[in-house]
Amino acid sequence: MPAIILENISFSYSSKPLLENINLQVGEGERACLIGPNGCGKTTLLRIASQDLLPEQGKVKIEGTNTEFFQVPAIEDFRGSARDYLECALCPLRNIATQFQDATNQISQGVSAVHAEQRYDQLLALMSCFDIWSLETRLTEVLARLGLRVLTGSGRDRSLSSMSPGERGRLQLAVTLIMKPEVLILDEPTNHLDARAIDFLVETVNKWRGAVMMSSHDRAFIEDTATVIYDMDVALWNELAKATGSSQVTGLYRCAGAYSKYLAEKTSARRKHRDLHAAQQAEKRLLRKHRQEASKIARGGVRLASAEGKAKKFFADRAAATAQRRMRNDD
Ligand SMILES: Nc1ncnc2c1ncn2[C@@H]1O[C@H](COP(=O)(O)OP(=O)(O)OP(=O)(O)O)[C@@H](O)[C@H]1O
Ligand SMILES: [Mg+2]
Repeated sequence: MPAIILENISFSYSSKPLLENINLQVGEGERACLIGPNGCGKTTLLRIASQDLLPEQGKVKIEGTNTEFFQVPAIEDFRGSARDYLECALCPLRNIATQFQDATNQISQGVSAVHAEQRYDQLLALMSCFDIWSLETRLTEVLARLGLRVLTGSGRDRSLSSMSPGERGRLQLAVTLIMKPEVLILDEPTNHLDARAIDFLVETVNKWRGAVMMSSHDRAFIEDTATVIYDMDVALWNELAKATGSSQVTGLYRCAGAYSKYLAEKTSARRKHRDLHAAQQAEKRLLRKHRQEASKIARGGVRLASAEGKAKKFFADRAAATAQRRMRNDD
């Protein structure tokens, strides 16, 4: 079963920790979205999950049957034309197609190579898993639907450096979708997409077979796709845990369900925390008042004022003991 498993991940770019003890598991059919303020480490965590960056601590496990093909070359580091980029990125799939053709020829010619049938079966499974039969059709369709129709014809020879950052971003996204990885990792995928391209992406992501992990600032996109939200800003959840005496949240707060459910849960947590805080402050004021009154007891009442000799000492000691006990309880 395809899955992304992060165990106790910690990472920092400087002496200040950025990610601490992150644990997360995204299983088949789950679409997890990381939420948090700018700079909280969403991209960094996605880069760690896609094994583009090594964590300082912890383990990344990518489970599945065919996970080795999911790395797509980073377009910003690539020199050449759009065609070169596509050829390089899709090379693993084209290699499978060539090997499958060879294996088919061998079998049809009756060549009895060792393990020939077993090899044929393996390649056939890969051809189906990555939908390589329809690679060229999918390539044309995905490019067109992501607003890159220009690259379906002679425009494919355009150099990447002559393309806008938005076009390059869409090309890398197109390749990622065409590669059909069992675990799909997307960072801000709707950047540079128009409404129609976003609709296509929503449709594609929602049909994904495997595990999806992403980050986005596009609330409508998150609402339309995510099945689980991971909040990287755990301050509120920890304040609430402290106020209620529950255990602290480390790394991420998981909220299963749609984005709107997460928003409702967070609003309710904020309200609960505010109410608890107000109640605790009111109790604190009462205790302070009660404690101040204890000092009056220490000074004694009418009986201490009117007592003499041993009786005066008795009343004074008793008043002091009562006052001390009350103050201790209040503290
Ligand atoms: N290569 C790097 N070297 C040093 N610091 C970096 C590097 N990359 C990112 N950072 C810093 O690490 C922090 C987390 O960055 P990251 O890009 O992971 O955040 P993010 O949550 O994805 O932000 P955004 O919402 O803006 O996309 C930021 O303060 C950023 O400036
Ligand atoms: Mg980011």
